[in-house]
Amino acid sequence: MPASVLVGTQWGDEGKGKVTDLISGDFDCVVRYQGGANAGHTVIANGHKLALHQVPSGVMYEGVVPVIGNGCIVDPEILLSEIDMLEGQGVSCDLLKISGNAHIVMPYHKDLDGANEKRLGKNLIGTTKRGVGPCYKDKMDRIGLRVQDMLDEKIFREKLESALVSTNAILAKVYGMPTYTVEKICETYLPMAERIKPYICESSLFLNEELEAGKNILFEGAQATMLDIDHGTYPFVTSSNCTAGGAVTGSGVGPTNIDRVLGIAKAYLTRVGSGPFPTELPEGDEVGDKLSSVGHEFGVTTGRKRRCGWYDAVVVNYAARVNGLTDLAITKLDVLGCLDTIKVCVAYECDGKRYTTVPEHQSVFYHAKPVYEELPGWKCDISGCRDFYQLPREAKDYLDFIEQLADVRVSIVAVGPDREQTINRHWK
Ligand code: IMP
Repeated sequence: MPASVLVGTQWGDEGKGKVTDLISGDFDCVVRYQGGANAGHTVIANGHKLALHQVPSGVMYEGVVPVIGNGCIVDPEILLSEIDMLEGQGVSCDLLKISGNAHIVMPYHKDLDGANEKRLGKNLIGTTKRGVGPCYKDKMDRIGLRVQDMLDEKIFREKLESALVSTNAILAKVYGMPTYTVEKICETYLPMAERIKPYICESSLFLNEELEAGKNILFEGAQATMLDIDHGTYPFVTSSNCTAGGAVTGSGVGPTNIDRVLGIAKAYLTRVGSGPFPTELPEGDEVGDKLSSVGHEFGVTTGRKRRCGWYDAVVVNYAARVNGLTDLAITKLDVLGCLDTIKVCVAYECDGKRYTTVPEHQSVFYHAKPVYEELPGWKCDISGCRDFYQLPREAKDYLDFIEQLADVRVSIVAVGPDREQTINRHWK
């Protein structure tokens, strides 16, 4: 397995951190290829629950090289505080590598993120307000600052001065907000640049050399398929390619090196932020409330309550297609143990037409009515199961049904938050 990609198949928060943490030990490098501090991966270190936003989850394994690829954006303040937090917990970040081509989140990106959301009013996207959209916007506009610009103060100042011409005009004239000077930003960013310098690396070259030396790479996706800028529920998406293809452009490793794509799907569904969600349970629904409380469905990055709903096989089947999934990991199966019966959305109906894949036309998706099949629940605690055959029949049937609808084998099943609370069927 030279390179594998791990991707979210839904709207994020599928438990990617736990699965990455579980399989990272089999790899030599773990690479983030898109997104920034909007991601929130929960991992457990020495019994402590840690939330990672910038550093790849692979950092938890000694000897695994964590890489922040060129497709990522880096918030230096959050990155450095995360490094300090990890080292404070005895987790070394010495091997961390950051691509010089990754873009830097600036303070004005966060201001603009908040201002854009305010401007959108009731149509707001519900972003994490980490400056993600504005930072990627500057990248595409070719006025962004990259991590490598931190290596040279003169270049950093020149590029910043140029970026501030248009940015300050937008801040002042469009939003009536305070503007920035080069000096003000350099005061905080230059000292941070000194600390970041040792981690900067030509990561595409490094990763390709690793592959040539027979090493294995795991690409750790953040956010998820339905939040992908191209394949998600635009405009209620993030600003990067979260799908498997992003691993290639976001790292500089060719697609022929990737032989497995592991999709992570929660056994039910959640979403934070705005946007369509066909299987959403209404506010105050008893089942929705149970999933929320038993599954602790609150955002890692923002603490927001996640919207809850039934498993949507149409979404996961779509994710199988756009990512080329070879394997599925089903997480939080234990949470469903609190329900008498479990619904699975097998298709949508809209204007008398039946859809078994996510319709490309946004209006159809907005008006899609889920068609459910109801399965019996198992009504017991399965968190102690370590083998597929230890699961109650109803839980095995649920997994078989999911597998059949996705047309992808279920290789990993998570039955609790700890690393050991996992059933590994086919991954190894
Ligand atoms: P942004 O990535 O902060 O621009 O937010 C865009 C959309 O993606 C919003 O709906 C966010 O709630 C969602 N989002 C971003 N990161 C995550 C994540 O890690 N998990 C779940 N949703 C996310």
